[in-house]
Amino acid sequence: MEKDEKIHWNEKYKIGIKSVDSQHKKLFMLVNRLYDLNEATTSKEEVRSILYDFSTYMQTHFDEEEEFMRSIKYNKLEEHKQLHQNLVDNLASIIKTHATLNIIKSKMKIISKRALIAHIVKEDTKIIDFINNNEMKLEITDLDTV
Ligand SMILES: [Fe+2]
Repeated sequence: MEKDEKIHWNEKYKIGIKSVDSQHKKLFMLVNRLYDLNEATTSKEEVRSILYDFSTYMQTHFDEEEEFMRSIKYNKLEEHKQLHQNLVDNLASIIKTHATLNIIKSKMKIISKRALIAHIVKEDTKIIDFINNNEMKLEITDLDTV
């Protein structure tokens, strides 16, 4: 009996910027592919390719999020970039290990909670606070106003 280890997207993780929210959702989807794998029938290459896809997309997402923060002259850009870098480094060390699939699954679960949930809720939401505090709302074209 395989326990459900997936990381579930929740609407409350939306920060209100459409492009960022949809990239966050895609990251959940990419990491969850790992939890569909079965230790007995999965090759190291399959695991590796899922980790690489996740890591590549995470990097793309961080680059775009940083570009967005730069465009609004976000005051905590450097700090936020450092947090992204820490997540990238953590992920890189997991990708390099020769651990079994089950160990990778549990390590990725921890990283996903940190990279996806905690980071979105604690850090990415500060971008929206900054926009609101600076009354920039009307200038941002992709804000989700619903
Ligand atoms: Fe971020």
